[in-house]
Amino acid sequence: MSRPVRPPVFAANWKMHHGPTAARAFVAEFLARHTPRDDRTVILFPPALSVHAAAEARADRRDIRLGVQNVHFEDRGAFTGESSAPMAREAGAEFVLVGHSERRHVFGESDEVTARKCAAVARAGLVPMLCVGERLDEREAGATEAVVLRQLRAGLAELDEAARATMLVAYEPVWAIGTGRTATPGDAAIVHEAIRRELRVLAGQAGEWIPVLYGGSVNAGNAAALLAAPGVGGLLVGGASLEVESWLAIAST
Ligand code: PGA
Repeated sequence: MSRPVRPPVFAANWKMHHGPTAARAFVAEFLARHTPRDDRTVILFPPALSVHAAAEARADRRDIRLGVQNVHFEDRGAFTGESSAPMAREAGAEFVLVGHSERRHVFGESDEVTARKCAAVARAGLVPMLCVGERLDEREAGATEAVVLRQLRAGLAELDEAARATMLVAYEPVWAIGTGRTATPGDAAIVHEAIRRELRVLAGQAGEWIPVLYGGSVNAGNAAALLAAPGVGGLLVGGASLEVESWLAIAST
C-alpha cells in the first residue's frame, strides 16, 4: 500500500484568512525561503477561493502540497454556497480537512456528516485529514477518549480499506484551539496512543503508520516539544501559520 505522505506532516490551516492575492504572496515568499526537503511533508490549507492562486504560485514546487478546509458530501447539485471534492481537486487540492472542530461546533456538523464528507473526499481521489478532539467540558467529565474514538470511528465508517490506509488524522483538543492554551506533550501523547490503538483495529496494518498530527495553539516556540511527544506525527497549525516567518520556523522544526 502506498503512503501519500512522508511524516512528519506540517499542515497550515489558514481558516478564513488570506484571499487569492495574499495567498499568492505568501506562497511566493515561503517558497523562496524554504528549501525543499524530502524528510517531511508540508501542506497548506488556504480558503477554497485561494487554492487555485496558491497552486499557480507554487508552480513546479511539488514539495508544497495543497488542501481545502471543507467540502460538501455531494459531488454536485443544488447546494448554494457549497463546493465539492472534485472541484477542490481541479483547483489543485490533494487533501481535505474533515471534521475540524469549527465545522463541528460552529457549523453544527455531526459525525454522520463527517463520515459522508470523508467518503466524498476519497471518492474524488483526495486524502481526508480527519480532525478529532474533545471540548473542555468533555475533558473535565473524563470523556476525552470516548469522544475522540467515537469521532474517529465515525470518520472512518464509510471509507474502504484503501482510503483508510492513505488518510491522515489530526488530534485537536477544542479547548486548545486559538486559545493560547496548548496540551502538554504528555496530554497529547496519551490521546495519540489511544488513537493509534483504535487505528490498528480500524485500519489493520495501515493503522501502524497513518500519521496522527497534533493541533491547538502550536507555535514556533512549542512546536519541537509537541512534535517530540510519543505518537505525534506532525502538527496542524492555525494562527501561527499565517505569518511566513513563524510558518517557516515551524515547518523546519
Ligand atoms: P490554532 O488552530 O493553531 O490557531 O490553535 C489550530 C486549528 O484550528 O487547526
